[in-house]
Amino acid sequence: MLAEAIAYELDVQVGACTVDRFPDGEVAVQLLEPVRRKEVFLVQSTSPPVNDHLVELLALADACRRAAAARITAIVPYFGYARADKRHGRREPITARVAADLLEAVGIAHVVTVDLHTPQIEGFFHAAVDSLTAVPTLCRELRDRLPPGLAVVSPDVGRMRFATEFARCFGAPVVVLHKRRESGTETEVTHIVGDVSRRACLIVDDMISTGGTVAESVTALLEAGARPEIIVAATHGLLLPGARDKLDHPAVREVLVTDTVAIDDRNWPQLRIVSIAPLIAGALERFLADGSIGDLY
Ligand code: R5P
Repeated sequence: MLAEAIAYELDVQVGACTVDRFPDGEVAVQLLEPVRRKEVFLVQSTSPPVNDHLVELLALADACRRAAAARITAIVPYFGYARADKRHGRREPITARVAADLLEAVGIAHVVTVDLHTPQIEGFFHAAVDSLTAVPTLCRELRDRLPPGLAVVSPDVGRMRFATEFARCFGAPVVVLHKRRESGTETEVTHIVGDVSRRACLIVDDMISTGGTVAESVTALLEAGARPEIIVAATHGLLLPGARDKLDHPAVREVLVTDTVAIDDRNWPQLRIVSIAPLIAGALERFLADGSIGDLY
């Protein structure tokens, strides 16, 4: 559990609380120890089931506020609803903004998150936001095992900057795929910008949800002449049911994700999980010492 791993890094105990359900399904939480005048860090990714996790976080923050906590920081390593950060058509909500408003409404004064889908979500908050990145953590894990002749692949234009950071780390060229999203589960690669012929590929993304984006990317790269040596690295492994099947391609050597989202299915030889607990603990140590976290970005 990520909260325990962060607490271990900081040499503190995880505070006791219960998170349960009333018979009708409503969220029921209770703090089992005082937090009066305490600095409280609530660790909760708003990963699936997104609404349940969001309401649990809101309820716990409200409990802390009413119990007179000095300051409440929400550590939301994976910030759900981040893809709803703008209106794609008329009469649509901006649900990422709604989630930000809700967190602030219950007294959360500081948010720590990792690889936000888009950086402008920070602007949805009045509260301080520390947006960390897992890129150095993922690069350290990958460094010694990457094949030669590598290209770093951004599966869409929006991930260019992210991919560029990996490319800089490995001294590799960046290739960009142009993705058209047909629906929440279907995507199509329409163009490839860059040359992948006879190259091994590292596909990087902020999240793997249904696995559709990666699966389409793998097909497009192989069709464009890439070697069947593909590694996938993403910060958030949502890995919804069916994602494993989509990623189960003989060319996919490894899928590396972090533990921003708790993953049940570890019986998957190609899947590797690296912890971002040291990254978050480092940020909290600096925060508590009123120091800068600039070197963690
Ligand atoms: C899209 O903009 C994101 O960066 C991911 O590429 C996408 O959300 C992954 O979703 P899926 O695995 O369902 O294709």
